[in-house]
Amino acid sequence: MKIRIVEVGPRDGLQNEAVAIPTSVKIAIIQALLNAGLNEIEATSFVSPKWVPQLGDAAELWPELPAGGIYSALVPNMKGLERAISVGVERIALFTAASDAFTQKNINMTVDESLEVFGEVAKVFRQARPHGFIRGYVSTAFECPYAGKIAPERVMDVAEKLLRLGVDEISLGDTIGVASPNEVTTLTKMALGSIAPERVVYHFHDTYGTAIANVAAALELGVTAFDSSAAGLGGCPYAPGAAGNLATDDLVYFMERQGLETGIDRTKLAKASLPILEFLGRAPGSKAQLALLGSLPPAVGA
Ligand code: HMG
Ligand code: MG
Repeated sequence: MKIRIVEVGPRDGLQNEAVAIPTSVKIAIIQALLNAGLNEIEATSFVSPKWVPQLGDAAELWPELPAGGIYSALVPNMKGLERAISVGVERIALFTAASDAFTQKNINMTVDESLEVFGEVAKVFRQARPHGFIRGYVSTAFECPYAGKIAPERVMDVAEKLLRLGVDEISLGDTIGVASPNEVTTLTKMALGSIAPERVVYHFHDTYGTAIANVAAALELGVTAFDSSAAGLGGCPYAPGAAGNLATDDLVYFMERQGLETGIDRTKLAKASLPILEFLGRAPGSKAQLALLGSLPPAVGA
């Protein structure tokens, strides 16, 4: 069985970083991720640069993306869609949540307001890109940093509304990385009751170290697509206390050890994030990456 991994590092991994990262550095990491075998990459967001300055270079970055990747970008409103379309974006991600308190902080809208905006965005996108692809994120799928625990029924209500707007897949986000496998099992059973497994993706953050256990729980029920970020970079500026994403390095190690195919070269992946970690002055956030790097012979001349 082949596992689908969507690398969200260039978007989720970087959006929370305070230091300005040059576009050329972002392109270099994307190239290294592609070289490691990650072909689906969420490259950036066409959001307001006043809200997320780090990704303010989306329109400059997009035309520079290396050939060979399947790239997507977050779009929060019509202005973001116009910017994305003008540079040739073919795959967009709309992002709402199961909690009004979170969407208010994140996109300055209630969930219902966001669905109204995204209905229009999806319609115009389909006209401009009849063969384009739309992802719909449901953040705070387990818990909201402002409103507390979220009922799975509420998550499903929002997911089904997004599907009715015409999204191709749903990515369920554990935005603050608190979920446990039992909660994942409950939500997954509910999701797979009405959505085909190939249209369900999980987006785990790893604040409490439960992300891999959560992947295992979802996998057990037939979900085979997961978002992750090289070296576990990441976090949402509007989700205080959230740690990085599930590290792609940890996810790939786990999958391979379970006998599942990822098509990714773990050594190239472990090295791909080193330049950006060095730029940010950060240590790897992945145990698998640290273990692998520690097992490599020293480079000649080092
Ligand atoms: P707002 O302030 O209500 O919007 O923000 P506005 O329409 O009043 O616009 C304010 C200014 O921004 C205006 O400029 C607009 O032109 C400009 P001014 O007139 O002041 O000069 N503007 C834009 N500029 C460029 N591109 C745009 C755009 N829109 C407005 N698209 C808005 C509303 C949605 C724009 C804002 O809240 C926003 O950009 N939010 C994005 C927040 C974000 O990116 N969060 C992180 C991603 S979500 C996440 O991480 C979770 C996820 O990983 C899954 C999980 O973990 O659960 C996906
Ligand atoms: Mg996220």
